[in-house]
Amino acid sequence: MCGIIGYTGESEALSKMTKGLSVLEYRGYDSVGVALQEDGEIKTVKCRGRIGDLEEKLKQSPSHARCAIGHTRWATHGGPSDRNAHPHRVGSTVLVHNGIIENHKQLKERLIDLGVEFSSETDTEVAAALLDLHYQTCNDPVKAIRRAMEELTGSYAFGILFDGAKGEVYAVRSGSPLILAKGKDGYYLASDMTALLPFTNLYYPLKEGEIARLTPTEAKLFDDESKEHAPTWEQTDMTAEAAQKDGFAHFMLKEIFEEAKAVENALASRVDENGLPDFAQDGIDAAFWKRIRNIQIVACGSAMHAGLIGARLIEDYAAIPTSVYIASEYRYHPPVTGEGTLVIVVSQSGETADSLAALRYAKSVGIPTLGIVNAVGTTIAREADYCIYTYAGPEIAVATTKGYCTQVAVLYLLALHFAKIRQTMSPTRIKGLLDGLRVETPYAIAEMLTQERMQAYRRIAQVFQDRDHAFYIGRGRDYLLSMEGALKLKEISYVHTEAYASGELKHGTISLIEDGTPVIALCTEPSLAEKAENNVHEVESRGAHVIRIYRADCLKKHEADTDTIVLNAKSDIACFFSAMIAVQMIAYEAAVRRGCDIDRPRNLAKSVTVE
Ligand code: M6R
Repeated sequence: MCGIIGYTGESEALSKMTKGLSVLEYRGYDSVGVALQEDGEIKTVKCRGRIGDLEEKLKQSPSHARCAIGHTRWATHGGPSDRNAHPHRVGSTVLVHNGIIENHKQLKERLIDLGVEFSSETDTEVAAALLDLHYQTCNDPVKAIRRAMEELTGSYAFGILFDGAKGEVYAVRSGSPLILAKGKDGYYLASDMTALLPFTNLYYPLKEGEIARLTPTEAKLFDDESKEHAPTWEQTDMTAEAAQKDGFAHFMLKEIFEEAKAVENALASRVDENGLPDFAQDGIDAAFWKRIRNIQIVACGSAMHAGLIGARLIEDYAAIPTSVYIASEYRYHPPVTGEGTLVIVVSQSGETADSLAALRYAKSVGIPTLGIVNAVGTTIAREADYCIYTYAGPEIAVATTKGYCTQVAVLYLLALHFAKIRQTMSPTRIKGLLDGLRVETPYAIAEMLTQERMQAYRRIAQVFQDRDHAFYIGRGRDYLLSMEGALKLKEISYVHTEAYASGELKHGTISLIEDGTPVIALCTEPSLAEKAENNVHEVESRGAHVIRIYRADCLKKHEADTDTIVLNAKSDIACFFSAMIAVQMIAYEAAVRRGCDIDRPRNLAKSVTVE
């Protein structure tokens, strides 16, 4: 939930810190800081606010340090303030941390008894004090870290500098992500590879419990027995350009425009010469698929919404009973499992703590697991028995768009794959359905992003200028997309929006409809159109301001007005994705009108690595 960066080498470190931190801001952005080691001295500069605020502060203290760590924070323990900002120094130890130290209270009491004085409300300062206690005793950074790890519970990724360890950056992780990297001019660490792409593409995902020591000339790893070895570097084909805005006003907008390509990438290499789904390239053998009798999809937020669509498709196409669980609830009330259960964990970041905990629970009770993950090499991708990457590319905006889109695309492909394996549909029918995604959808998405469409979204979004409550309604799959539409609208524009199954509104919630209440109605399933439209009339006659997002053949002529978005796509799946673009764009334009910080909405972070 916070971003960490570190560097040691022959180049100046500060600009690398600020560059990397500005990429990592999506992980948290309420305070920021750096620790710079220069001439053997470690100086920390930190403040509440964003990277720009830190840069202002840094103007007063220029630095030529070649060894540094930095941090951008999403507050958990202790509100956003200068003194709660990282790095935290205790004695000779300077620490940046991502995660939560669960036993910080007990440790703090013990450390206070030993005479330690604390100056912040953070759990991180407690960890720094514990590390320092051991460092003072053994004067050996690796031993001190190992001893502290034995006492710490919770999740953490640490970047550490010690007085007396000149040019050395230490790192360790347990439950929170951390990547090491090798550049031409030194060694790096970061929470996420995107922060390091401007410097290098050689990386190593640090393993649980492994301690790393970086010096200007080498990286060393220490395992449980403190045996030393060198990392095996991997090469990423992500580029720094992929993590730039490319002239778009916001990352979110850029990422919406990338969705057509993202769908193509998600499908590439997964369609065989007969136009049928094929996951052979993902290293999943045929026997694995055949054993599956029921499926549990586990995820959070938008990934869970994608899971809901996936479950519907798997049941419709392959008749495999499939349920969806909120990851943070899953292991506290685990569902009944049996022979042939498969747990699918869906996650864009691959690091979401709740999803990871659910995955680990499933593995601990012997259920086979499959990850559907975007970020390559991340914890969920590595720990799941099998992983299908969505290949959406780096997603920077906190509100997911292309991440969700590719999750649905992969789940659609998976549903058709199960249909093929179980022979619940003919190959011709499967091919036809897949063509809707592969051939028609990229064009349908592009058609939803023309200038004319953009003007319509802008016009429609005006209604949210001075409205704080809204509803999304839909039936069938449209209800499931409504949930995502409502989340998108509320998380970036702060308009309180709830999604309702159209037919359910009249059972109580319709009392909230007043004159002018915005209600966005989705309708992409012709068989449900008549009933869906009846429900729209119910809210319209109570004064609602209705915005229709309707498939052309679900719309009667007289229903179309300036607040109607007509979807021209032909296949069900292309209509679904067209509607998805509309809901994402309406949220975007509403947030623009309301002057919100679109890529970094308040109180949120991109990767939620705490439970
Ligand atoms: O990285 P993940 O897909 O595991 O993230 C899950 C949710 O935290 C994420 O989808 C969240 O709901 C987004 N802010 C929605 O835009």
